[in-house]
Amino acid sequence: MSGGIRFDSVTVAYDGNVVLDSLDLTVEPGEVMALLGPSGSGKTTALRAVAGFVRPASGRVFLGGRDVTGLPPYARGIGMVVQQYALFPHMRVEENVAFGLKARKSPKVPRAEIRTRVAEALEMTGMAGYARRYPRELSGGQQQRVAIARALAIRPGVLLLDEPLSALDARLRSGMLAELARLHRELPDVTILYVTHDQVEALTLADRIAVMDSARLQACGTPRELYRAPGDEFTASFVGNANLLPVTVGSGGVAFGGGELKVDTEGAAPGARATLCVRPHLVGLGEGPNRLAGTVREIQWRGATHRLYVEVDGHRVIADLRELRDPPAHGDEVTLHFAPEDATLLAAGVGHD
Ligand SMILES: Nc1ncnc2c1ncn2[C@@H]1O[C@H](COP(=O)(O)OP(=O)(O)O)[C@@H](O)[C@H]1O
Ligand SMILES: [Mg+2]
Repeated sequence: MSGGIRFDSVTVAYDGNVVLDSLDLTVEPGEVMALLGPSGSGKTTALRAVAGFVRPASGRVFLGGRDVTGLPPYARGIGMVVQQYALFPHMRVEENVAFGLKARKSPKVPRAEIRTRVAEALEMTGMAGYARRYPRELSGGQQQRVAIARALAIRPGVLLLDEPLSALDARLRSGMLAELARLHRELPDVTILYVTHDQVEALTLADRIAVMDSARLQACGTPRELYRAPGDEFTASFVGNANLLPVTVGSGGVAFGGGELKVDTEGAAPGARATLCVRPHLVGLGEGPNRLAGTVREIQWRGATHRLYVEVDGHRVIADLRELRDPPAHGDEVTLHFAPEDATLLAAGVGHD
């Protein structure tokens, strides 16, 4: 069974508090959609609305084109993995993985079929050798693989993952991230909704990212679109790092501090206040187009790169540079630059006072 997910103006409230506000979002069949946003922005709530654990105050949820808003969780054919594994401690790995299949009543899944599917799910998650163990005999990463195997055993059309890597340490996380990408290649028909507050996970795994902020969908697009041309300041700073400079729109450029910067101002009204977004890794050191002259306030050596914090007309500009042979020192006067095509003009927001 395969099919996409559609939120049609879904609102969820707890005690009159709206925590998900008229969410409209479509996840295409076989697509990986990341729900990215800070803690408390409503991501888990959106996921639970799909799973059927929370009833929307208004709006509809569709799975594979079917309205499932009134259906109980077990009737939705969904696999779900949450942050804290949630394996049954008294059951062996194979029993944990078989759980969802054994729970099926009509039609009942035959024993031989359960065995086949459990073996298949454990194989897919690299846990075939651990079938007889108990959860306490596994590492955190292995437990999470079992949780994923359990979700896959029912052969779900839709897989919901809620911060599945956040309980793991950094090294394990990046390994599991690659594993999840491989799993998706092996199961291209499964639609995945992946909740995370980690931009790296969203950028590496997702076909598209839905950015959430305070119960609302703020932006939705491919990682590349959101990174290259974020539509707003929140998205700019949440998907990648961003320098956000308060500017005033001129003709063919913007005024910043005492100077003029050449950038594309199409669609912006001359005289309007706006925010210029420039990614730190697209800022260069030395003379070039669009000069920014300032004082080095901090310099960090990060192995492959140097990060410079430069004060320009009272604003902080970050430049991530390939490791410098002869880095400037704290307090040095430097010139930075960026190419006009590497800047994006956003509607004014928090950058202005
Ligand atoms: N069962 C609940 N009862 C009351 N408030 C809740 C409940 N679940 C979540 N909330 C509130 O809803 C908001 C969104 O929560 P959640 O969807 O878990 O956010 P996220 O997953 O993005 O961190 C938060 O303010 C949270 O405190
Ligand atoms: Mg959450």
